[in-house]
Amino acid sequence: MRTRRTLRTASLAVAFLASAWLAGCGPTKPVKHPWTPKDPQGPAGPETAREVDRDDWWREARFGLFVHWGLYALTEGRWGERDNYGEWIRDSAPIPAAEYRALAQRFDARGFEPRAWARLAREAGMRYVVFTAKHHDGFCLFNSEHTEFDSQGSAAERDLTLEVVEAFRSEGLRVGLYYSILDWDHPDYLPRRAWDDRPAEDADFLRYEAYLRAQVKELLTRYGAIDLLWFDGQWEGTWSHASGLALHELCRELRPAILVNNRVDKGRAEDGSTTPGFAGDFATPEQVIPGAPLEGPWETCLTMNRHWGWNAADAEWKSARELVQTLIDVASKGGNLLLNVGPRGDGSFPPEAVERLQQIGAWMAQNAESIRSTTASPIGSFPWGRATWKAREKGGTLYLHVFEWPDNGVLRVPGIGNRDNLRVRVLAEPTLKPRMQAEDDGLALHLPLRDTAPNQLSITFAIEIGEEPIFHRAPLVYAPSDVFVDPIEVRIASGSPKLRVRYTLDGSEPTTSSLLYQGPFELTTSAELRVRSFQDGRPVGPVTQRRFVREELRMPVEPANLEPGLWLRREARELSALPPLGTEPSGAPEAASAIAIDAAADRAKLWMRWEGFLEIPKSGVWRFALRSDDGSRLALGRSVIVDNDGLHGVQIKEGAAALAAGLHPVTIEWFNATGTADVHLAVAPPGGDFGPAPAELFRRFKR
Ligand code: GLC
Repeated sequence: MRTRRTLRTASLAVAFLASAWLAGCGPTKPVKHPWTPKDPQGPAGPETAREVDRDDWWREARFGLFVHWGLYALTEGRWGERDNYGEWIRDSAPIPAAEYRALAQRFDARGFEPRAWARLAREAGMRYVVFTAKHHDGFCLFNSEHTEFDSQGSAAERDLTLEVVEAFRSEGLRVGLYYSILDWDHPDYLPRRAWDDRPAEDADFLRYEAYLRAQVKELLTRYGAIDLLWFDGQWEGTWSHASGLALHELCRELRPAILVNNRVDKGRAEDGSTTPGFAGDFATPEQVIPGAPLEGPWETCLTMNRHWGWNAADAEWKSARELVQTLIDVASKGGNLLLNVGPRGDGSFPPEAVERLQQIGAWMAQNAESIRSTTASPIGSFPWGRATWKAREKGGTLYLHVFEWPDNGVLRVPGIGNRDNLRVRVLAEPTLKPRMQAEDDGLALHLPLRDTAPNQLSITFAIEIGEEPIFHRAPLVYAPSDVFVDPIEVRIASGSPKLRVRYTLDGSEPTTSSLLYQGPFELTTSAELRVRSFQDGRPVGPVTQRRFVREELRMPVEPANLEPGLWLRREARELSALPPLGTEPSGAPEAASAIAIDAAADRAKLWMRWEGFLEIPKSGVWRFALRSDDGSRLALGRSVIVDNDGLHGVQIKEGAAALAAGLHPVTIEWFNATGTADVHLAVAPPGGDFGPAPAELFRRFKR
């Protein structure tokens, strides 16, 4: 215990009260988990009104600042012969504990000016910050009662997080904190790294988890209304789904309005999305922009050069043009961009980062309305750029972001069916007066002939639609599931009530004489559905296809002498795909109560197969989802229901089966070649949502 704590706590209490008052209280209305299954009922119209949710501010913001700062910044990414390290330097160099800890005595924050950071961020058009309160190295940039390895104990001798929180709040920005679950410094953290010579026998992960929770409590109770927690390091074998759920719950308990990223739990798939049934309010793609919108809220985090933490040798800075176009691309798919700056050891922002933030800011000063509070493009993307959309009570604004100026001066915008009540404006270039012309499948904008766009970063055209918008997008099809037993209801939503929707059930192309959609209809037999929109008798937009299969209920079997659980067999074997169905691993049967890989086991070149019965409590269509890295498969008897086989990263596949209540023989298989090992089974009962497969589902023969 340090005695100087007491004094500090008193003065901090005043600061916390002040900041709590400043931040006000967020909304406390509970909302449901953001992951909604493919809407079993379907919306009332083409667009369902979204409730006011806790993430409204975050969706409206669209753009935030990530800050990776810590002791590692003092190394400038250099150690020994190499100069390509970042915030992982403690582990990848590796740096001996004493030497790394000694960096704290040089960590004086002499160039640290959080007000300048906050101003830069606000002027760049950002509306929130996520600051590394603790990274994987375990060093805390806040004043923690639970460790001496913090900024209070460093040369800076103060709570840097508090200063960040106050600075950003006073600039009117929301505040998020990054907290690493993974911790290379804490004596109780497991698993131990190969370079760590501390005896692992004395470590107790449960004690570490208590420490982590106590620190999260500090962060959420001492700094006023923190808006967001950004966890990381959840991939470690010691972190479990139960721990993730409990941590998410703790955050909500302490701050009902808080947003928590999906790295709090084990459900983050390779593309950053969240596996059904796992905690997390938004998905976290890293250094990638998804090809298409992800389901549910998402945020891409991105570095400006190639490192998160400061690396003096890294000169590969993205241009302001690339960064602005990335922000637009992300917004056009309905996501947020969290753009990183790694301050130098003294806390100052590198000039390259400042310059880019200012260039982005200059663009945002004139174009922010085309990013902030927008939603994904209703008509996809274009060869010349992207679109974002802002709906209004009547009509809305479609923003066209032009990256490549058209050679012939004509910008084709397919997908808009409106002909009247249209107006076009050019943001930031009022002298440009494009002529608008209706075309068969959209609009054409005639622009002045020139070689390059007037604004090199991106130029924005706003098309004001002063009436019900007509978008030629692929019609959306809603149904409880693709496999059914009793007749199901199918609903279709087109891009506008002004379009006619026609469909076929035999897989043929819809034409003007096909069935006209006049409201929800019932399917009683298997069907190959094809749907298309028509405007003035002409087919417009893409065709949507969906296959529906009517199945008989699979009858249960009646084995005797069962007990809870499954039998697991494993074999050390190098595979690139699962062996044929029915083949068994050579290992002796082991009792298992869940589909899980034991933390201690050797995970490379491994094949595992669980066998037993599913005790289905209720007849109907059951859905199964297997997430795995590498391949996995679920079979009921001899039919493969989920096929997620092959060499791949974390990937989710779904399947469904019509099952009568009772026992059904099941095998679940998984293999891992090398690298990340992961397997998880989620189950959705008839008409219900996905959740982790409950243990009560599994039965096996008594041996
Ligand atoms: C990775 C890295 C980490 C970084 C994070 C940002 O998970 O481990 O260093 O903070 O990505 O998304």
